[in-house]
Amino acid sequence: MTADARLRVNEMITGCWRTQVIHEAVRLGLPDRLAAGQGGSAELAAALQVDADALYRLLRALAALGLAQHTGDHQFALTADGAVLCVDHPESLRGVALHWGDRQWKSFGLLGRAIDTGRSQMQAGSEGFAVLQRDPAQAEVFNRAMAEQSLRIARAAVRAYDFGRFANILDVGGGLGAVLSVLLQAAPQAQGASFDLPDVGPGAEHYLRQAGLSERAAFIGGSFFEAVPQGFDCHVLKYIVHDWDDEHSRQLLTQCARALQPGGVVLLIEQVLPERVTPDPAVAGMVRGDLIMLNIGGRERTEAEYRTLLAEAGLTLTRIVPTDTPFSVIEAIPVWTQGTQGA
Ligand SMILES: C[S@@+](CC[C@H](N)C(=O)[O-])C[C@H]1O[C@@H](n2cnc3c(N)ncnc32)[C@H](O)[C@@H]1O
Repeated sequence: MTADARLRVNEMITGCWRTQVIHEAVRLGLPDRLAAGQGGSAELAAALQVDADALYRLLRALAALGLAQHTGDHQFALTADGAVLCVDHPESLRGVALHWGDRQWKSFGLLGRAIDTGRSQMQAGSEGFAVLQRDPAQAEVFNRAMAEQSLRIARAAVRAYDFGRFANILDVGGGLGAVLSVLLQAAPQAQGASFDLPDVGPGAEHYLRQAGLSERAAFIGGSFFEAVPQGFDCHVLKYIVHDWDDEHSRQLLTQCARALQPGGVVLLIEQVLPERVTPDPAVAGMVRGDLIMLNIGGRERTEAEYRTLLAEAGLTLTRIVPTDTPFSVIEAIPVWTQGTQGA
């Protein structure tokens, strides 16, 4: 084994420290304070009422990661990379940092038990999402993290797939409506709605208002296991099917197939696992997602697995459109319309 290889493996083993350094920095609001020009560690510690030496050491760790710059004695400034952790950065990853340092951190701590038993160890399934969305603090972090992660992926989806032909777009399990907001910008003639558990309503309405979409986008509360709203010619499910096992996925996809307007399409925006996994960063992101899903009862899937699952829900997979991210747009139409539409 070369020294380089040993170093690489050591970096993998110890990778967890970065998650917590960033989480703690964000939890304390350090990136925002550094951005506002408060760079002295002692002053910051006094303002935040934390231990001065410990905070200095945390700031040094941020500097070692390139997220802050160590500009002088106990003095720090924010770097351009660190700025993405600020609350008002247009591409902010603040919610992602909070989510990873807490919920995902706990999830990976329980991985061993999930592997030993094959059972999810986090609060999972319908009850898991209901509890999460009912707790305002948890829901705020989770929904923000989803929205932050989804904007970039939705922008890639509209570059790869023509949403301009749809009149009514339903973002199924749409959360705050981040994906919907990007799709409606790409389809200026379309109306839309984010459909999610009722507790998500106030947050989604606020988000859509801030996006300037109150006139074109609504929130609809409900459960996709019971019924999906009718009257939409495009159902988008971003990061939905991967949350669920095959049985639940079939149920919710069947509801979509039933509710879809004639001539409409169901679009899953998901990462499609290759049949053979290679050490590629994009693929690593997919298997990372798969292990997160293992702990809540879902899974990432291959093309063949998506094809089978969709068929079992009365949908035919018509094409998979890759984007310039690891995500693809998986297009499907109800079996009863097969031959009359598609790619
Ligand atoms: C992983 S998040 C994805 C959110 C959004 N689509 C995105 O990618 O940013 C899953 C979403 O499904 C919603 N959800 C879970 N169970 C649901 C149900 N039974 N009916 C409707 N939405 C549900 C959750 O509240 C959450 O917003």
